[in-house]
Amino acid sequence: MRIAVLAERAAGERRVAATPETVKKFIALGATVAVEEGAGRHAAIADEAYREAGADVAPVAQATEGADIVLGVQAPDTGLLGNVRPGAKVAALFDPFQKRETVDAYAAAGLEALSMEFMPRITRAQSMDVLSSQSNLSGYKAVLAAADTYGRAFPMMMTAAGTVSAAKLFVMGVGVAGLQAIATGRRLGAQVSATDVRAATKEQIESLGAKAIFVEKVAGIEGEGAGGYATEMSDEYKAAQAELVSAHISKQDIVITTALIPGRAAPRLISDAQIATMKPGSVIFDLAVAQGGNVEGSRTDEIVERHGVSIMGYSNTPSHLAADASALLSRNFYNFLSAFWDEEQGGPVLDDEIGSAVRLTRDGKVVNERLLG
Ligand code: NAI
Repeated sequence: MRIAVLAERAAGERRVAATPETVKKFIALGATVAVEEGAGRHAAIADEAYREAGADVAPVAQATEGADIVLGVQAPDTGLLGNVRPGAKVAALFDPFQKRETVDAYAAAGLEALSMEFMPRITRAQSMDVLSSQSNLSGYKAVLAAADTYGRAFPMMMTAAGTVSAAKLFVMGVGVAGLQAIATGRRLGAQVSATDVRAATKEQIESLGAKAIFVEKVAGIEGEGAGGYATEMSDEYKAAQAELVSAHISKQDIVITTALIPGRAAPRLISDAQIATMKPGSVIFDLAVAQGGNVEGSRTDEIVERHGVSIMGYSNTPSHLAADASALLSRNFYNFLSAFWDEEQGGPVLDDEIGSAVRLTRDGKVVNERLLG
């Protein structure tokens, strides 16, 4: 079984899909690993480190020659995969809802596309879940980036020259990223509050020492929803949420928004009129900016000034922590493929619900039910 690890070509993508640690582990399973030259350079991994781990390091055409499995952070262009085995598996982030043309190109090329974002949210797959591993880092980075832009301090400081008051930080959307944003804000000394549509998050917010701000009059999502994800809310709920947010947001210094709904544009949580009620110098970090944005006026990789408030958001937040993001992502890939490793076949056999959840294409066709119909 030959595994090829490609260098990333997308603008701003600094992560890599395997580290020397996971290369060694794949080799211990009996695979051979080839890494494209320079694949780890933005994640602080030299070619030499891959060689020491036992990989061949080569230009892309050689690295992919005869590969049975290709690993990429973002799905590689099929034009790079002319040398792989027919029907080879390619595990990567495919962004299947937004990049349907890539999925179709994989089907046409007869490749088996495995989309890591479609990992089911079941206990067994937790260690394979790239959205969690990357969102956790994103939540952390969003707070640091906002703190850096904010022209004041986070913690309360009592000095001989007087007192600096603590920053008030509000987190909207308390999934994996939001929980880490709360924890990071608390560690930096901010006064933290948070909200979500899922009632289950209230206890989580409080257990992190933050204040829970919830819509009281209208029912939110009581349980965890399908696979722990949120759904689109009713108009009545949205109106109640807007009212609640309006009252709260004007008193906040930093707002971190993280709300996502799978397969849809991110829900709009903050309007321009609400931004206008905030104090000048406040900062909003929109972690959903690449999925359409939670905040009116946010733009990827720019700091937009509205009513004296800075609105910011990165197109690829985990890439700003490329070394850690790569280490976690690489373990997700390894945990996924190794869990299905069949000694007789000498490679992964993806024959259960996890395989069908992540498989997008096979035998020339798009086969994933979330993309059909
Ligand atoms: P996500 O990235 O899809 O969304 C972020 C947060 O925004 C969610 O908490 C969601 O409820 C919230 N949200 C959506 N619409 C909103 C709105 N209109 N207003 C306010 N908030 C809104 O969610 P994420 O981070 O992927 O996690 C969702 C849940 O899934 C969590 O409970 C997490 O623990 C669970 N999970 C389970 C895994 C497993 O069992 N393998 C793996 C990863 C997460």
